[in-house]
Amino acid sequence: MNIAMLGSGFIARFYATTLHAQRRKDRILSVYSRNTSHAKKFAADFGLNKYGSEMEKIIQDPEVDAVIVALPNHLHEEAVLACVAAQKAVLCTKPLGRNASEAKRMLEAVEKAGIFAGYLEDLCYTSKFLKSLASIKAGNLGKILWTKSREAHPGPHSDWFWDKEQSGGGAIIDLGCHCVEISRNFIGKSIRPVEVMCWAATQVHPIDAEDHAIGLVKYENGAIGQFEVSWTFRGGMDLRDEVMGTEGTVWLNSFLRTGFEMFTTGKGENYIAEKAESDSGWLFPVGDESHELGYPQMFSDMFDAMEQGIEPQETFYDGYVVNAILDAAFLSAKSKKWEKVILEDWRGDSGIREEKSQVSYDEKYYLIKKEILPNGAEKVILKDKVTGEIKQKTIRD
Ligand SMILES: NC(=O)c1ccc[n+]([C@@H]2O[C@H](COP(=O)([O-])OP(=O)(O)OC[C@H]3O[C@@H](n4cnc5c(N)ncnc54)[C@H](O)[C@@H]3O)[C@@H](O)[C@H]2O)c1
Repeated sequence: MNIAMLGSGFIARFYATTLHAQRRKDRILSVYSRNTSHAKKFAADFGLNKYGSEMEKIIQDPEVDAVIVALPNHLHEEAVLACVAAQKAVLCTKPLGRNASEAKRMLEAVEKAGIFAGYLEDLCYTSKFLKSLASIKAGNLGKILWTKSREAHPGPHSDWFWDKEQSGGGAIIDLGCHCVEISRNFIGKSIRPVEVMCWAATQVHPIDAEDHAIGLVKYENGAIGQFEVSWTFRGGMDLRDEVMGTEGTVWLNSFLRTGFEMFTTGKGENYIAEKAESDSGWLFPVGDESHELGYPQMFSDMFDAMEQGIEPQETFYDGYVVNAILDAAFLSAKSKKWEKVILEDWRGDSGIREEKSQVSYDEKYYLIKKEILPNGAEKVILKDKVTGEIKQKTIRD
């Protein structure tokens, strides 16, 4: 693929580093930045022939096969619509929109134009995530009851993130979009998210947006997806997920503990890892950040899907559902009540009821729990199928 990169900032550099690493065949051809000198510098750093400060011109270049939108949130819609006008495949970074209305307009535009569109949700592509998901889909965790996803760091690196108008919100929109999509994958994308309860506050920074939030997303089958996001967390970038099912558990730590620990008095000059706050003492560097964050796996899926004419794992529709869930979170943070997730376009299952499975112990009782005590004794806790009485029975003294 010949790729046009829109934006020359933080994520554009991460994407470019990924795409031009390890002899990959998909290459960036050109870059757009509103500031020509930034575009020129980016082009020089990544060996690109073309750069410019006119977005449409870069997109319309006949040599371009796909466009990556790596611009601030308030420019995603404009950039996606420019790709639609030029009939170019488009890959857009997260969050898709600042809200569900924006995301829905983008979704409808790409579908109407019949162009390939992918949602660049990298954290749903890390090796750990993909293996956990495969394991969950194979039934190893049984029915998923509760997922917890946490992204917390000391706050983003550019002005526009902190301005609610341009970003669409604070930590909820910036980090919650990752957590919500991680949980949706684990719970099952076909399960409808129904309502959200969220606490949000601006605890530290002089901004209008929230710098800390916790939310619960309730799904139609009774599962709960919990998100915890913060721009006030100290100590680096904390990316952790937990999945709890009727048959098992998964715990993931994607960044602060990747198995690389280092102590230094701080004599040298070194980059440790994204959002690391210290370069001395005990440190937790990350070997290949792009890989740990899922970028190579994500681009492979996107370009494979494009070539095969199929949908990628993360689509604009997913981006729209995420925005709808976050809209409800913002409402709930204000109303302090459960707020409905409004999905005018729902493509998953409908009318799923919460199932509660009762394990039969014998004809008379259900089994609640089997326990082996420290002294080796074994007992079962049972419920009478008719009277509902709960009692225990010793199996071994
Ligand atoms: N893990 C991830 O997937 C991830 C991580 C970081 C950022 N992002 C997303 O990437 C996008 C860009 O974030 P970033 O971290 O690269 O930001 P950044 O500030 O580092 O870079 C933004 C780029 O857009 C340009 N820009 C800023 N305002 C502009 C304007 N008004 N008109 C035209 N160009 C403008 C900047 O010059 C820069 O090239 C955001 O949507 C963000 O949410 C995704």
